[in-house]
Amino acid sequence: MKDAERPIGVFDSGIGGLTVAGGIHDLLPNEHLVYFGDTRHLPYGDKSDKTILDYCDRIAQFLIDQNCKMIVIACNSASSASYAALEQKYGHLVPIINVIDPVVQQVSARPCGSTAILATPATTNKGLYVSKLHALHPEMEIVPIASKSLATIIEEGLFYNRKLIAEIVDHYFGDYPELESVVLACTHFPIIRDMIEEHFDRGINIFDSTDAVALAVKDRLEVMHLLNPSRSKGEHRFYVSDLTDSFQKMARIFFGDNVQLQYYPLWEDPELRVF
Ligand code: DGL
Repeated sequence: MKDAERPIGVFDSGIGGLTVAGGIHDLLPNEHLVYFGDTRHLPYGDKSDKTILDYCDRIAQFLIDQNCKMIVIACNSASSASYAALEQKYGHLVPIINVIDPVVQQVSARPCGSTAILATPATTNKGLYVSKLHALHPEMEIVPIASKSLATIIEEGLFYNRKLIAEIVDHYFGDYPELESVVLACTHFPIIRDMIEEHFDRGINIFDSTDAVALAVKDRLEVMHLLNPSRSKGEHRFYVSDLTDSFQKMARIFFGDNVQLQYYPLWEDPELRVF
């Protein structure tokens, strides 16, 4: 297999990274994807950097073993906790893209007054959005808002319950009526983007990683002459460390009914099973 024909590896704790994988698939439909959802260990957002890094290290090894030509860390919590270490350990083998830098670039091109960073505690505690944005725009007013449970609620499939999500969104944004923009700094949150837009019926700028990361992937592959020249549609493989209904459903919503999940538990019993 030629280098450019190798798949792109994408991973998250669960379904959130499907928003990123979907963006890559829309922009680069002939690329093959290998997706890993670490459903056994989610949520990542309330765990320590050390624990998250441990999971991410194992997943990166798995994706490299799957012959991936690039790794996309499709999770803000994982990008915060592991990008620097993974880049140092595997950067010479494979290009690694995190979800934070492309979004920071996008926000920085259109900086607004008061900007909320809605994220998991793992992401807000690390503070990379704030430090990176302040390095570019020291005057920016940034309000980090940490939610421990929203990603888990979405993962559970409760995003269909619009009343519940509207109440949760009111809860987090109710104290900040003056916001001018919101960064969805968790890859699960684009799934409820329309409900966040609805909350701010006066209109607000919303930034998320879906298009920004897809463009970063394309640019990097282009520079490295690794864009797949094939004209046929990419074939995707999906691995999970635990089978969950919501992952199955979401993977099919994003990638169609033919999606087959394969079980890969990361540490025990490395034998692959098709469900
Ligand atoms: N999707 C992950 C992120 O972007 C968070 C979900 C979790 O807490 O596992 O941060």
